[in-house]
Amino acid sequence: MEKNIAVIKGDGIGPEIVEEAMKVLDAVAKKYTHKFNYTQILMGGCSIDAYGVPLSDEALEIARNSDSVLLGSIGGDTSTSPWYKLEPQLRPEAGLLKIRKELGLFANLRPAYLYEELKGACPLKEELTEGGFDMMIMRELTGGLYFGMRSTEVENGELIARDSMSYSEGEIRRIARRGFDIAMKRRKKVTSVDKANVLDTSRLWRKVVEEIAADYPEVEYEHMLVDNAAMQLVKNPKQFDVVLTENMFGDILSDEASMVTGSIGMLSSASLREDKFGMYEPSHGSAPDIAGKNIANPIATILSAAMMLRYSFDMDDEANAIESAVKQILAEGYRTIDIMSDGKTLVGTKECGDLIAARI
Ligand code: IPM
Ligand code: MG
Repeated sequence: MEKNIAVIKGDGIGPEIVEEAMKVLDAVAKKYTHKFNYTQILMGGCSIDAYGVPLSDEALEIARNSDSVLLGSIGGDTSTSPWYKLEPQLRPEAGLLKIRKELGLFANLRPAYLYEELKGACPLKEELTEGGFDMMIMRELTGGLYFGMRSTEVENGELIARDSMSYSEGEIRRIARRGFDIAMKRRKKVTSVDKANVLDTSRLWRKVVEEIAADYPEVEYEHMLVDNAAMQLVKNPKQFDVVLTENMFGDILSDEASMVTGSIGMLSSASLREDKFGMYEPSHGSAPDIAGKNIANPIATILSAAMMLRYSFDMDDEANAIESAVKQILAEGYRTIDIMSDGKTLVGTKECGDLIAARI
């Protein structure tokens, strides 16, 4: 098969980790006789430096006309980078929000999984994680607070800032359906997270999720308030399979879930719409403090490329080959610095990519 992939290396460690993911994709292409054509586009701080905007219309069109997008990470140090002196809509993150919205990527899948080989990195007591855990945070990605009207203005002699949050039934329905579909392929459990004891958007969320749940009698489902969910994630992470939630709650809980695994450098993510198109990126950020040092862990991005093969290209065997290669190098004892422990072999970003590519 021939596929056109738009590649956004981005800022910080983005370029180094994307390079390794492309190396692994090329190894897959060679072994399974596919052709992956890459078109690089700019987004984030590097695009601001080049064009004065975090995402140009031309870059957006290239992404729109590709079969999928592979993304590294964007953004810099918010307290020192000049990008954060710009108007909010010109900052790096605005490019990310824009591409998600413009491409209609409403479903964000963030797996949080405890690797047997890395369980020592999990900050929780062993008795809480015995046997591991494996959850999928399903975050609504193009609605809610991050896309509502906002303003900061002077009223009665003082500044007042407003952010508004809204959800339509249709927006809730499509993400809920995706969540239940994915649960059917996993352990058939959905925990829908909201704040229905306070928010109208959450009460509507609950109502719509209940309607969708009726179509999936095999799936066990429950509602959980977001504050409780934050607590349950560190108290008993094993209870979760699919965690279905709105944009901001998902932003926060997915960071928490990844920390609970202890190895955020290992976690991939996919942002999908109704059809096969998707954008794939690591769950972690651009880590500007370690950029260019060949020490960043490329595995989250490599695993995101595997998700691309599975979800956008229906290449299950190829995706499995990447995931097995990752497990294999971990079993062989290779570690980047973030997951290093006694007696293991320390490798850099490039070496890690080489090792994985060689095992495809
Ligand atoms: C994420 C990030 C983004 C988000 C930021 C950079 C806008 O935190 O992908 O989780 O909040 O969606
Ligand atoms: Mg986030």
